[in-house]
Amino acid sequence: MSAAGEKGFGQGSEELARWVDRVFQPEDPLLREIRERTVAAGLRPIQVGPFDGLHLEVLARAAGARRAVEIGTLGGYSGVCLLRGMGEGGLLHTFEREPATAEVAAETFRRAGLERQVRLHVGDARVALREIDREGPFDLVFIDADKTGYPEYLAWAEENLRVGGTVLADNAFGWGGVAQERYEGRHAPEGVEALKRFNERLAKGGRLRATMLPTEEGLAMGVKVR
Ligand SMILES: C[S@@+](CC[C@H](N)C(=O)[O-])C[C@H]1O[C@@H](n2cnc3c(N)ncnc32)[C@H](O)[C@@H]1O
Repeated sequence: MSAAGEKGFGQGSEELARWVDRVFQPEDPLLREIRERTVAAGLRPIQVGPFDGLHLEVLARAAGARRAVEIGTLGGYSGVCLLRGMGEGGLLHTFEREPATAEVAAETFRRAGLERQVRLHVGDARVALREIDREGPFDLVFIDADKTGYPEYLAWAEENLRVGGTVLADNAFGWGGVAQERYEGRHAPEGVEALKRFNERLAKGGRLRATMLPTEEGLAMGVKVR
C-alpha cells in the first residue's frame, strides 16, 4: 500500500503522497508481510496505514517508551511498529477481543522475533485492562479498538500513565463525523458520538495536554500533566 492509497498521507495531494512514500519508505518487507498475511487470514484490512505505523514507531521512540499498552491488536502490525520504537528493553501489553485474531498476532510477534517483549491479552479490553493495573504506571497507551470504548480507554490511560506519559488514539476524526452535529455516514453513529466525547475529554479534561495530528484518520495525542 502506498501513502497515496487508503489511509494515506493526508494532504490530499497524490504527488506529495508519492514523494513522501519514496523518501521516508514507511513500510518495509516485514510490515508488508504482516499486512498481507492478516488479510489472507480473513481479517479486515483495518490496521493503521503505513505512515501511521511510522508515526507510532517514531513517537514511541521520542517518548522514550519502555512499557506500553495497545488496545486493539488485530494482526500485530501497529504492535510491531510500537515495539520497534521501544527498542530491545521495551515491553508491550496488547489487547485483542477475538481469539482467532489474536492467533494471527501471536504468529506475527513470533516471526518478528518479538514474542518475549509482548504480553498478548485475549478478551474484552474493558475487562482485561484491569489485569495490568498493578503493573503500571505506563509510558504510552495506544487506543485503536472499538470506538464506543474510547472514552473508557482514555479514563484508564489517565489513571495508569505516568506523568509525562503519552496517549495516542487512531481514527480520532471519526471519518469526519466528529465535526458533524448529526453523523449519517456508514460507520456506527454511537462510535462517532463516543469519539466526540473522547476528543472533548482529551482536549479539555485537564489531565493531559493534547493535540490532534492531522493524518487522514486523525491521530490524537496527549501527554499526561497531572
Ligand atoms: C482497528 S483494529 C486494530 C488495528 C491494529 N492496532 C493495527 O493497526 O495493526 C481493532 C481491533 O480491536 C479489536 N477489538 C475491538 N473491540 C475490542 C475490545 N473491546 N477489546 C479488545 N479488542 C477489541 C478488534 O477485534 C480488532 O482486531
